[in-house]
Amino acid sequence: MASRLKPPNSRYFFSPPLQKPTNKPPHLFPHLPKSLSIPHNDTKIPPGPTEKLIINGGSKLSGHVNISGSKNSALSILAATLCCSGTSKLTNVPYLSDTRTMASVLESLGAEVEFCGNEFVVSTDGISSVEPDSDSVGKIRGGFFVIGPLVARFGEAIVGLPGGCDIGSRPVDIYIRGLRALGAIVELRDGKVQAYAANGKGLVGGRFQLDFPSVGATETLMMAASLAKGQTVLSNVAQEPEVIDLAHFLMNCGASIRGAGSKELHINGKDRLHGSCYSIIPDRIEAGSFMLAAAITRSCISLSPIFPSYLSCLIEKLLGAGCKIVQCTRDNLELSAIPGIFGDDLQGFDIKTRPFPGFPTDLQPQTMAFLSTCNGKSIVEESVFENRMNHVKELRKLGLRIQVCGSTALISGKERGRGSPIYGSRVAATNLRGGMSLVLAGLAAEGITEISGISHIDRGYENLEKKLQILGANVKRLNPRPNLVQ
Ligand code: EPU
Repeated sequence: MASRLKPPNSRYFFSPPLQKPTNKPPHLFPHLPKSLSIPHNDTKIPPGPTEKLIINGGSKLSGHVNISGSKNSALSILAATLCCSGTSKLTNVPYLSDTRTMASVLESLGAEVEFCGNEFVVSTDGISSVEPDSDSVGKIRGGFFVIGPLVARFGEAIVGLPGGCDIGSRPVDIYIRGLRALGAIVELRDGKVQAYAANGKGLVGGRFQLDFPSVGATETLMMAASLAKGQTVLSNVAQEPEVIDLAHFLMNCGASIRGAGSKELHINGKDRLHGSCYSIIPDRIEAGSFMLAAAITRSCISLSPIFPSYLSCLIEKLLGAGCKIVQCTRDNLELSAIPGIFGDDLQGFDIKTRPFPGFPTDLQPQTMAFLSTCNGKSIVEESVFENRMNHVKELRKLGLRIQVCGSTALISGKERGRGSPIYGSRVAATNLRGGMSLVLAGLAAEGITEISGISHIDRGYENLEKKLQILGANVKRLNPRPNLVQ
């Protein structure tokens, strides 16, 4: 049963130290300290055995695509509504399974969430619990972010371990150390992280340096510090646009935050924040995925709204490959990858994923699919997540020539003078961005590609097949569920 709000008492001061998990995964990344690693809780979203995407590849794309609001901004800003008394109205929220799951997390705490299309209205006046439903938290990484607002505003939080894509162990040790630096006692008990304000009242500002610029930990600590007493300085923080978006929302609600987008955040805690109206930024990863869809099909499309500076790494690489990219207006971009224009076909390139402003890990699988259609050999190195190469096995079924060694992949592009090396086949999406790489490969393949497990893709791409159809792709969703209407 969910714990009800109650004043903190002395038991919080005499809790046993954080239990160490016994079944830790092998520790591969030097920046992850061993002692606080918590095993990754795989996504519990069923792989959607009934629904499939069927793509008849080879069509050129053309026209314009509208980019939805950012999934990852929306998840952290929905969590941040818990910092605010009253009602917040969020617009441009993508209507996705992940944002609906986040709404369930808030509702399980007693918040009221109403959504109509892309508008989510959240009222937190009826919050009656500090323990969100573990099943919902266990489906998405963003579910865990509520620990910051809850402990900062109510003095206590009991939150199950998060889910999210299965891309390696995803510990929460940085969140825990950061909350401790703000005066919380944090323990792992019965598979849940329990946090209490040590002074029995609320958090207090402090200094904390993140070992690695984790996006989620930066966001969680920024929310917590916004309601902590006094000043907080967070250093080596994530600089992702979604972090800036969250800071703008919190400032709209009365928070005092300096430095969003830089490596150091200075936050002056406030006694209370109020609800506000806020529009979520466009999704740079969806935009990048559509740019790669145009590139892999050697097509020309335009996209908006999109902030090109948030995608400068991808834009530079695509320009180097031979694509033509024109910024038509402040937030409208046109990408042309039609080979005739350049004489020769597009040229492969190397990437290494890094925190922003580096090459985004969330575009790594889709870029890999594209590189398989370019001239020459390319190297893709994944340095953010320890195991984000699961899509390679499925891409190979479509004829892509990719060899993996640890977190590095060698991609053999197409041979000069030959057609597309990709052919249609039956494949399964096992995570969100890997699933999108299969869609891109399917668009460029000769013949029909059948993709199962599309609930993974639905977590992050709003109206995907409709958007692709508008661009001229031959894509349909197959739902062979028997018609139950008699
Ligand atoms: N890490 C730790 N300890 C922590 C937190 C993170 O070691 O306490 C490690 C992770 O294991 C990983 C690295 O730090 O190796 C980066 O993880 P980060 O915390 O930055 O990622 P996240 O907050 O869990 C968000 C996005 C991801 C995106 C990453 C990186 C949300 C809900 N998720 O995850 O989005 O890949 O930042 O940009 O915001 C996606 O949309 O497909 C997706 C996976």
